[in-house]
Amino acid sequence: MHHADWWRDAVIYQVYIRSFADADGDGLGDIAGLRSKLDHLVSLGIDAIWINPWYPSPMADAGYDVSDYRAIEPRFGTLGDAETLIAEAHERGLRVLLDIVPNHTSDQHVWFQEALAAGPGSAARDRYIFREGRGPNGDQPPNDWRSAFHGSAWTRVTEPDGTPGQWYLHLFASQQPDVNWHHPDVHADFLETLRFWFDRGADGFRIDVAHSLVKEDGLPDMAERNWARLPFRIQPIPGVHQTDHPHWDRDEVHEIYREWRRVADAYDPPRVFVAEAWVPDPSRTVLYLRADELHTAFNFDFLRCRWLADDLRAVIDDTLREHRSVGATPTWVLSNHDVARHVSRFARPQRTGVRGHHLRDLAAEADLALGLRRARAAAMLMFALPGSCYVYQGDELGLPEVEDLPEESLQDPTWERSGHRDRGRDGCRVPVPWSTATPSFGFGPEHGAEPWLPQPAWFGEFAASEQDGVDGSMLELYRTALGQRRAEAALGEGEMAWVASPEGSLVFTREPGFGCIVNVEAEPVAVPEGWTFVLSSAPLVDGRVAADTTAWFHR
Ligand code: NOJ
Repeated sequence: MHHADWWRDAVIYQVYIRSFADADGDGLGDIAGLRSKLDHLVSLGIDAIWINPWYPSPMADAGYDVSDYRAIEPRFGTLGDAETLIAEAHERGLRVLLDIVPNHTSDQHVWFQEALAAGPGSAARDRYIFREGRGPNGDQPPNDWRSAFHGSAWTRVTEPDGTPGQWYLHLFASQQPDVNWHHPDVHADFLETLRFWFDRGADGFRIDVAHSLVKEDGLPDMAERNWARLPFRIQPIPGVHQTDHPHWDRDEVHEIYREWRRVADAYDPPRVFVAEAWVPDPSRTVLYLRADELHTAFNFDFLRCRWLADDLRAVIDDTLREHRSVGATPTWVLSNHDVARHVSRFARPQRTGVRGHHLRDLAAEADLALGLRRARAAAMLMFALPGSCYVYQGDELGLPEVEDLPEESLQDPTWERSGHRDRGRDGCRVPVPWSTATPSFGFGPEHGAEPWLPQPAWFGEFAASEQDGVDGSMLELYRTALGQRRAEAALGEGEMAWVASPEGSLVFTREPGFGCIVNVEAEPVAVPEGWTFVLSSAPLVDGRVAADTTAWFHR
């Protein structure tokens, strides 16, 4: 693979920094903690890391409310620490992606503070989306848009003279005002942020809610839209998976990424982007991946896919076809910091027990042993598919979702905004158990503060120290599979071909000389003649691949 094209088949590890490793003992992960674990990451066999936002933030949404894009949150470290981390990662051959949040700033960002002070009609307000309210006293929100975290997407401000005033748009928490991408300052400022971090060695950016930046002129009510007739294969998310949506996935957003691509291409080696874009269909995803736009986008259809052979096959086929149509490389991802961990999703009956990818969607009782077995098989499937993959911290330990965090510990704004109906995403964000040595399972130092989210007592069973060198552990499976993936000429970018197989199973080949059998829910599948065993997620049974198992072969 040509050096500059590293991202086309990379395995990228997501570092949710506040939960990764806490070196200074304040209960929150930090850059020094991350630096201390780089060798663990190298031993996993990954190619790059993506670090969730590490900028100064009041943390109303765990750092996705950024108050200064060109600095480091003091609780995470200093700009010098960030530069050292990037240099140390590079010395170890790891690339570093950062996270940029262009849809909204923090309400503590200097622009928003200026906008509040400057009052209605000011140039400062025009950097955000302020409107008059509806109703005789203007006390109704300007339209019916809803926040992704529940409740109205509008909050009313008190004007500098003390009277109730205009409303501002926030598609997420009220502390995350949406910026106005029709404003030239917004364009110029984000380009400067890109250059700031590229100049400091960042290899690229993950783009937060990449599909939300442009809103339809006139901000029309959602109620005017016809929500019926969704032709999409994956169960649509109501209000998200919708064509011609007034604030998701508008065609005008692509112009922004053409501008960003020109900046990334001016660097040597060129910097890269991955879009977080929850769009209705892979045909919409790949519009972001046209040659003059972004390089990659998370494949959320794969993440949302149930452990069912027909569904998996359809998602894989749709993904490959659509990506091919624009010459883009697919990505595969099973979990991240916004969804219930896949061990716990796969622990439910797949036809009836999982309605979506959030904790609130997990209906049936969990069978964690089954979830772990399927997670092993899913990882080996993912690593064998053409393109690049993402691993979320803790996937390699087989961490399940923490489904029963005490209510008083919940921090996701979803919890408050839903009137305590939706527990939100904290259960996949619990600090990583590294060892059984300290009270925080090695997350923090011996006498450090309590982790920002409590770890359950059973977390110790999943600690890296308990799996290191242990045959058959999830950690060793990840290491072996990723090492093998690197060694196989057939894996990474390229093509694959299906081989006829019993219902409930998937079999495919890749060239040169590789074969993969995924038994999702079939009777044990026989290995084709001439195939020799390489690795499997569970032992073969009488030479066959049993249900919930993936196996790799040479042929
Ligand atoms: C997507 C991020 O992944 C999520 O954690 C965040 O809450 C929203 N975007 C808003 O920034």
